[in-house]
Amino acid sequence: MSRLKELRKYVDEELNKIEDADKRTSAVAHLYGVSLAATMIAKKRGMNPEIASMAAMLHDMHAYMTGSYDDHAHKGAELAREILTELKLTDETETNMICSAIYHHDDKLVTDAPMDEVLKDADVIDHCFKDASKPVKEKEQARYEKLCTEFGLL
Ligand SMILES: [Fe+2]
Ligand SMILES: [Fe+2]
Repeated sequence: MSRLKELRKYVDEELNKIEDADKRTSAVAHLYGVSLAATMIAKKRGMNPEIASMAAMLHDMHAYMTGSYDDHAHKGAELAREILTELKLTDETETNMICSAIYHHDDKLVTDAPMDEVLKDADVIDHCFKDASKPVKEKEQARYEKLCTEFGLL
């Protein structure tokens, strides 16, 4: 089984514990949507798509498991480290890269390390393209426009 598949199996099992069916569906859709976008963006930028996709699968897990978005990026990075340590799928450098991306993913207005940026952008792609009839959030507007330019979507 691939590392990504193994991680998804773990994430799927955790998400299945969410009792509310609508919340469960939107959690699954978001993590898989961001994972797909992260793969594309990483490939485009010459980054590791597998690591990007793994970061995406874990990035909002803390919020989904606790039901709270309070400081979910920073707490989520700690949770991701626990999960990755338990699953033993990644080496230290990969774990650090994934946890850094999750730690910074809510800081959409600043620029961080390249893999951090892949996850932020993938999050924005999922938010904006899941329902293109919805207005783009103000804090995601600049990033959204840059992505449209980068991917020739204007
Ligand atoms: Fe988030
Ligand atoms: Fe997210």
